Amino acid sequence: MDKRITLPITKIITEATDIKTFGFEYDLKAKPGQFIMLTDFGKGEKPFSLADCTKTEFFITIKQIGDFTTRLFQKDVGDLISIRGPYGSSFFISQGNVLLIGGGFATPPLYFLSKELLKIGTKITVINGAKTNQQLIFSDRFEQLELNYMSTTQFGAHGNGTAVDRTKKLLKKEQFDYLYASGPEMMLNALSTILKDDEYEFLLERYMKCAVGICGSCTLDPIGIRLCMEGPVLPKRIVEQLTEFGKYHRDASGMRIKF
Ligand SMILES: Cc1cc2nc3c(=O)[nH]c(=O)nc-3n(C[C@H](O)[C@H](O)[C@H](O)COP(=O)(O)OP(=O)(O)OC[C@H]3O[C@@H](n4cnc5c(N)ncnc54)[C@H](O)[C@@H]3O)c2cc1C
Ligand code: FES
Repeated sequence: MDKRITLPITKIITEATDIKTFGFEYDLKAKPGQFIMLTDFGKGEKPFSLADCTKTEFFITIKQIGDFTTRLFQKDVGDLISIRGPYGSSFFISQGNVLLIGGGFATPPLYFLSKELLKIGTKITVINGAKTNQQLIFSDRFEQLELNYMSTTQFGAHGNGTAVDRTKKLLKKEQFDYLYASGPEMMLNALSTILKDDEYEFLLERYMKCAVGICGSCTLDPIGIRLCMEGPVLPKRIVEQLTEFGKYHRDASGMRIKF
């Protein structure tokens, strides 16, 4: 859908002090891993991944970071926003035994993916990692699904390591047909070093302006693929060719910013 559509917010769920999920009643026809471009009619438009999407509603989960997301956090049910999309590539729907690894506020697209994988009877294990217990989100939703759910936090009284630590331990005991991950790029980079023999897909983020492959702001070195078109979900064979992966991303002006 390239046309813009204006919708009222129908649900707001507080996940943590700085993370909220926004729900909208609309048949978006999105697939897991895809994203929408959203504006509140103020300055700018930003991409957000789908945390869930059914025939009647869709959800996005947002962390409050800068001006744009702070404005969204001031919205109430009934307030209008405008979207275009869904855009981008989606996760491969694998059969067999799969592992999903999520980090922080980037975990929700894996919830949408879990629901689609369960429809074809895939056996799923989810590792959901966060810095603290307070930042660990979507546990309640994953626990309602027929899958093996593990959570881990890095800091705090019950901290037991990162999602990468937990993945390393699990891979010593169990083999998976396919792996999926969504999280901070340094987490994905660390995962790529331990997934040498495994097939995987990663959900990546880059600065996006047009989301339709025209402006070039989301192209990745050195192969020049556009993350808004060929991504944001990329398979292992592409991730392995990216010289900027885990090293730097670019700001609105195209300047490199080190991770
Ligand atoms: C495909 C795709 C999917 C995305 N999905 C989601 C999603 O589901 N939920 C969500 O909350 N965000 C998501 N993002 C990021 C989102 O689009 C915004 O970039 C982010 O919310 C920051 O917006 P802001 O304007 O509030 O902050 P800005 O004013 O743009 O940034 C404020 C500061 O935060 C830094 N910053 C910007 N973005 C990030 C980031 N992602 N992580 C850490 N620091 C950052 C900036 O460098 C700057 O210093 C996605 C991005 C992409 C490309
Ligand atoms: S955001 Fe413009 S080409 Fe990807």
